[in-house]
Amino acid sequence: MFVEREQAAGESTLQERREPFQNTRRILGHVVSCDGARASIVAQVDPRDSHGSSQWTVGKMISVNLGATRTVGLVYGIGKPDGLWNEHEANSIEVSVELVGEVRDVDGQPMFDRGITAYPHIGAEAHRIRNRDLQAVYDLGGRHSVTIGTLSQDEGIEACVAIEDTLARHFAVVGTTGVGKSTAVSLILRKAIQARPDLRVLILDPHNEFASALPDYCIRIDSGALDLPFWLFRLEELAEVLFRGREVVPEEIDMLRELIPLAKSQYKALGSGPQLRRSQDSYTADSPLPYRIADLLKLLDDRMGLLDSKTDRPHYRALRNRIESAVADPRYRFMFASKMIEDSIHQTIGNIFRVPHGGRPVTCLEMAGMPSEVVNSVCSVLARLAFDMALWSEGRFRLLLLCEEAHRYMPADPRLGFAPTRHAMARIAKEGRKYGCYLGVVTQRPGELDPTILSQCSTVFAMRLANEHDQAIIRSAIADSSASTLNFLSSMGQREAIAFGEGVATTMRLKFERLPDRYLPGAGKRHGVDMGDGDDGELDLVELVERMRNLPKAQPTLVFGDAADGAAQPGDPGYRRAPGIPLPEAPAPVQMQPPMAQPRPVAPRPVMSEPPRVQDPQSLYGSRPAAFGLRK
Ligand SMILES: Nc1ncnc2c1ncn2[C@@H]1O[C@H](COP(=O)(O)OP(=O)(O)O)[C@@H](O)[C@H]1O
Ligand SMILES: [Mg+2]
Repeated sequence: MFVEREQAAGESTLQERREPFQNTRRILGHVVSCDGARASIVAQVDPRDSHGSSQWTVGKMISVNLGATRTVGLVYGIGKPDGLWNEHEANSIEVSVELVGEVRDVDGQPMFDRGITAYPHIGAEAHRIRNRDLQAVYDLGGRHSVTIGTLSQDEGIEACVAIEDTLARHFAVVGTTGVGKSTAVSLILRKAIQARPDLRVLILDPHNEFASALPDYCIRIDSGALDLPFWLFRLEELAEVLFRGREVVPEEIDMLRELIPLAKSQYKALGSGPQLRRSQDSYTADSPLPYRIADLLKLLDDRMGLLDSKTDRPHYRALRNRIESAVADPRYRFMFASKMIEDSIHQTIGNIFRVPHGGRPVTCLEMAGMPSEVVNSVCSVLARLAFDMALWSEGRFRLLLLCEEAHRYMPADPRLGFAPTRHAMARIAKEGRKYGCYLGVVTQRPGELDPTILSQCSTVFAMRLANEHDQAIIRSAIADSSASTLNFLSSMGQREAIAFGEGVATTMRLKFERLPDRYLPGAGKRHGVDMGDGDDGELDLVELVERMRNLPKAQPTLVFGDAADGAAQPGDPGYRRAPGIPLPEAPAPVQMQPPMAQPRPVAPRPVMSEPPRVQDPQSLYGSRPAAFGLRK
């Protein structure tokens, strides 16, 4: 209570009290109606006292004093029923509040409970909530918490989230573009890593912006540095790449399904592979065992020769062309580079999933510039691997898979998006928690996100949302009574969010901490744009065109799993080569590598494109064991 009165006798805690000479009537109101979930309060507001009238504003918490307990309410509407305003004397206003719970004193400490045991009676006194009570409302009750900002209502009070529950039960950050989602996510990640040094994070980063936000924690992998062997892909993922995201031809898929297991057993028979103690029968097109494209093509050729029917041959030929053009396409180099024919799965997953993490537990997979069918397959493969890693590590490996622009891989419309990615993500959303594989979802269009994914996210940070449909989605996700908080969704400021769900004690409107400019996502990129690149800000057109052509440049300084440099971004000069080191000649075609030096058409017709001009298929597809590991 702000004033000492007889009714307040039940309160034993020390309260911040109003000065005795202040007029008590100004900040007090009285309950005039209550229906169990909401209440109305009338109060007097004197226009000559600006301080008094500012006590009653939408979004503030109030408490109703009931002696032993204080009922806490959130103001969601204020009004003056007669619509008139008198400048010279007190005006009577009506305040609508939603009841959110009650505070009682236990051993001298205020404790908050979401349930309400005693409802306010008519005439009960209401006033602005005290700081101590407000703190109690958002107190996480001993759960491991991290501070991510301050309450919007009172900047003196820290906004904390229970980090374990936020991570383990998946979280989502939604909001219009530019409102601060990526920054908020990088802040949450930073805090999460500090709180849980064993946590690994894989960020699917479509705008290449997170590496600059977490320079001290992350490594960056872009399409040039990614190594994901084709044999790790399941059949449908491989088909997505081979068919370039278009409708597949069932006959060709059937051939692959039949021939890939044969190629796998041939590889094993070579004896140069790892010790595989599985019987041949257990090979499927989906098992992650190495095989060679050369064997697969040879098997295809053999089949083609055996055929007398004219109907099947075109399919074989088409499939062969598809495989060859994919292998020759520089954009798919990360899959087909010959080094990958070795059983290098340990190294691959160790690098991507940071085992051991060497002080950098975050991987930023930079996907801007990757062709979309590759993005689809890569996300699918990585999400699958993430889940399997967590599953088979039996709780010793904890990974957060963070999906920026999640509506792209998990769209609400099942006809859009890539089914295997959706399945892999949905599996993490549904079962990942049990094994330590967590999902963080960031989207500007919650309405376009698969609703089952959103419903699995137990903590949601809702930032400003302009679109009605998106607001409705978030409103339906909030189950508890504080739904009227979401009325503010369309009018919240930058950095502001409403947090609700498992990670917070009560639905909380907060303002994220301000991050220094150098830690803003994409800071390096913006810096590059603003400052020019040292030579009068002129674009390096040669470099730019090479990027458009997707020609891999020789990268003497970039090794796989390079530590991120917060300042340099892809697109910056010097990102791939140290400043001062002259750009080497175009890479000479290495023995087992498709010819890279000639620019290929930007969008070759896959089926029609000519086969690579290398004489020796053994060399081309890396089937000559001596050539393993020579990838440049
Ligand atoms: N917590 C914050 N601290 C400092 N600046 C912020 C913060 N959140 C947002 N901003 C500002 O807003 C801009 C856009 O934020 P960003 O996270 O990229 O938005 P979104 O991902 O929602 O599009 C940032 O570049 C930055 O200037
Ligand atoms: Mg963003």
